[in-house]
Amino acid sequence: MDEMVRPHICLIYGTRPEAIKLAPVYRELKQRAGVFDTTVVVTAQHRQLLDQMLTVFGIKPDVDLDIMREGQTLSQVTCRALEALQTTLHRLAPDMVLVQGDTTTVFTGALAAFYEQIAVGHVEAGLRSENKYSPFPEEINRRMTGVLADLHFAPTPGARERLLAENTPGEQVFVTGNTVIDALQMMNAGCAPMPDATARLVEQVSGRMILVTVHRRENLGVAFTQICTALQRIVHDFPDVSVIWPMHPNPIVRRAAEEMLGDHPQILLCEPLDYFGFVPLMAAADLIITDSGGIQEEASALGTPVLVTRDTTERPEGIAAGVARLVGVETDTIVTAATELLTNPSAYARMSEPTSPYGDGQAARRICDVLEFHFGLSERRPEDFSTTDHDDATIAGRPQ
Ligand code: UD1
Ligand code: UDP
Repeated sequence: MDEMVRPHICLIYGTRPEAIKLAPVYRELKQRAGVFDTTVVVTAQHRQLLDQMLTVFGIKPDVDLDIMREGQTLSQVTCRALEALQTTLHRLAPDMVLVQGDTTTVFTGALAAFYEQIAVGHVEAGLRSENKYSPFPEEINRRMTGVLADLHFAPTPGARERLLAENTPGEQVFVTGNTVIDALQMMNAGCAPMPDATARLVEQVSGRMILVTVHRRENLGVAFTQICTALQRIVHDFPDVSVIWPMHPNPIVRRAAEEMLGDHPQILLCEPLDYFGFVPLMAAADLIITDSGGIQEEASALGTPVLVTRDTTERPEGIAAGVARLVGVETDTIVTAATELLTNPSAYARMSEPTSPYGDGQAARRICDVLEFHFGLSERRPEDFSTTDHDDATIAGRPQ
């Protein structure tokens, strides 16, 4: 009997959030090794942050392009990634490339695939802030990736609606849930014991704990100073509150955070944690202040209130569900929002109900089902993720 020819799926990624969110897809593809041939190409747009996550998920890339340079500019990342990716794709000749999200690796991965006339699947498609400079350059990266994609894996019904409003053909759009919820479940979120590295951090602070991350390009400069000033004021007003901030390795972020907050006894600036260590920290936090995309989604599922230090968000679902609040980057507004949560138990309770508008932990399975459908290996179009029937999948379990 002829051996079935397996479609060759090539995952391309390069930064921390892509590594986390594609890990469940990689696992699912590997579980279907009789159906798909899978390769992993990393640009390593991030070096240390990517390696941390490759270790956590036990993934050894087939190709590592190692493009990161300290202080790299957007055009440097774009040029280095695009050239190396096209050469690699020419050699590997996969049947489909999968990219996730909105980084420069994502856009260049899709563009290189297009140049090689290879089909593109976009995971986490259809997120839009409708402001081309916020987040910068991610809003445009994901729009350009959308133009190049053949399959659009929208995480939520809202993302699907945005794609359809841009005339993306409906038959190319599948609502899958966000793979970050699958990744959280892989960490056994809320139930696994806290790893030693995280426990040691938590022991160093006392009282209530605010977890902070800030790294976005549009927040560097004045906005960054305003956010740090807000943190100074919050810990001044609340002597029982401490801040833990695992800093992004970007030297601009580190320099500014250390300058403004480095010596404060209630503020702990530390190295980034791997995902095993970071998920329990999000669950243990009383409050999260962040400009991260992924953390907004995770915090909703964990039921940790999150203040988003941005003027726009392409993730309105967490705000509609009441777990996230968009607070901008003005010092006063951030302090006022944090103060309300730290002093008003009913406001706090309203924001700390775990909810999962972003997925049910089945996104990777749906994506692979869609791939089977696309390649004619199954006849039935997979059903979309629906936000009304996921109640049993909420990740509960914030430690007391
Ligand atoms: C990138 C993505 C952003 C994503 C973020 C996740 C783009 C344009 N931006 O932004 O969408 O939210 O990753 O973290 O793709 N660095 C290291 N080691 C690392 C990672 C970064 O030293 O492991 C330093 C390097 O000096 C690097 C700088 O951080 O030059 C910035 O990294 P870069 O990937 O260009 O941008 P991010 O701000 O990380
Ligand atoms: N994260 C982590 N360790 C840290 C900080 C963040 O594992 O010290 C995880 C976090 O849980 C989320 C992802 O990294 O899944 C977010 O990455 P980042 O903030 O770099 O990117 P964004 O989501 O903003 O694009």
